[in-house]
Amino acid sequence: MPDDRHALVIAELDADMSTAAASAFATLIIDYFKEARDGRGPVSTSLATSLIAERFDEPMPMEGAPLAAVIARLQHDVIADSNRLFHPRAVGHQVSPPLPATIWTESVIAALNQSVAVSEMSPTATPMEHRVVRWMCDLVGFDGSAGGTLTSGGTEATFTALLAARSVAIPDVWSNGVGEDPPVVVCGEHAHYAVSRAVSELGIGSRNISVVPSRDWKMDTDALRKTLDDLASQRRRVMAVVATAGSTATGSFDDLDAIGQLCESRGLWMHVDGAHGASALLSARDRARLKGIERARSIAWDPHKMMLLPLSAGLLLVRHERDLENAFSQRAPYLFHDAEGARAWDQGTRSFQCSRRADVIKLWVAFQRYGARGIGALYDGLCDATRAMYEVLQAHPSFETLHAPESNILCFRFVGDGSLGDGQLDVANRDLRERYNGSGAGWITATTLGGQRVLRVTIMNPRTTVRHVREIVDGLAREARGG
Ligand SMILES: Cc1ncc(COP(=O)(O)O)c(C=O)c1O
Repeated sequence: MPDDRHALVIAELDADMSTAAASAFATLIIDYFKEARDGRGPVSTSLATSLIAERFDEPMPMEGAPLAAVIARLQHDVIADSNRLFHPRAVGHQVSPPLPATIWTESVIAALNQSVAVSEMSPTATPMEHRVVRWMCDLVGFDGSAGGTLTSGGTEATFTALLAARSVAIPDVWSNGVGEDPPVVVCGEHAHYAVSRAVSELGIGSRNISVVPSRDWKMDTDALRKTLDDLASQRRRVMAVVATAGSTATGSFDDLDAIGQLCESRGLWMHVDGAHGASALLSARDRARLKGIERARSIAWDPHKMMLLPLSAGLLLVRHERDLENAFSQRAPYLFHDAEGARAWDQGTRSFQCSRRADVIKLWVAFQRYGARGIGALYDGLCDATRAMYEVLQAHPSFETLHAPESNILCFRFVGDGSLGDGQLDVANRDLRERYNGSGAGWITATTLGGQRVLRVTIMNPRTTVRHVREIVDGLAREARGG
């Protein structure tokens, strides 16, 4: 009987709102914390994706199961073979072992389910987002006309920034499109693909990207000056210059002050992709790496990277809030209206998404619980551990480093006894990473740098110490010798 079914599900909903149900979930997570945190057990699964896929190869459940059974499946089928980011030898990609209070806050965000597009749908989260954006603008050095929005991450933040820059370069673009002679976007050789993707998405076309070569893995500012001179002499309009603060490959910081001055002197929009490195603003020691960031017209900043928030928490800041408003000329009378000044608060008029999670709550909780200084100290610790790894590698005869770390990312290469040629070393490094990660002892990444295949670490775990980085290097050396 349909009515019985409805009553049954309502009873299940009620049961799942109990402390017992919440405790069952909390216990699951706490057990995971305990196991991963102490470095017991493997960092990652040894099972192939196709094998893991078999356990999910089942028809859609038409009947529900007891919560205990669902939790048991989460434990065995999901958690057991997930990457353990809390493991101190998990030093792979730019994803965090999240700050614990922000993990619990995820449940609060989901429970309240406030959409921050419209202030009437999020009476507390909307003013909170305005306040947190203001805090971040203050860190940058933007004045009262600045604004911003949370985003799903750096990709959306950079897309939105370039959308805003496009509206300034082509004021009638919303109605008439980009036309036959779109402007140029200038970026560094090591810019994240979010930049080129956005340029194509925005209809500018990838052939209108001008790539500036790097020197020491960061934008060569002399080459930028020459690029801008060349474009001016060709009478090409420049829509934006994108600088990177904390590049994906090496964690290097472009010279924002020099790039910003060049942009200012020519009236150009500087966008700073600080998805990875803008969090250095919280570090008393490292904020100097961002000198000149206040010259930016827009900034992408991912708290889900070096502020150690769980996915997703991205941020876009703009020097003039009106730039964001002009970027989206959306009319939606069913959503946005002028009642009692609501429009000034509604973030939906300034952001890409319609329904949007109140991710700002976990950012706010991070500041409340750990403080800007506490988070800055964690940032410093990650950089210190990376520096320690650099020193261990430098002293090791079988490895060479490709750069001194400027943040928590480091690229290096296995070189063995020096007898292998470049091509053989490429193969050796690729195989070494596969074998090491497959062993479960640690987890690192790889990239191509200067035409060479290299190994790469991103230290995201505040519990990764000098001992662990030694263990990682020793483990790699052992694996290279054949295990
Ligand atoms: C410099 C830089 N920009 C942008 C991104 C993209 O950020 P997200 O994955 O949050 O969209 C990354 C991430 O990996 C990055 O390192």
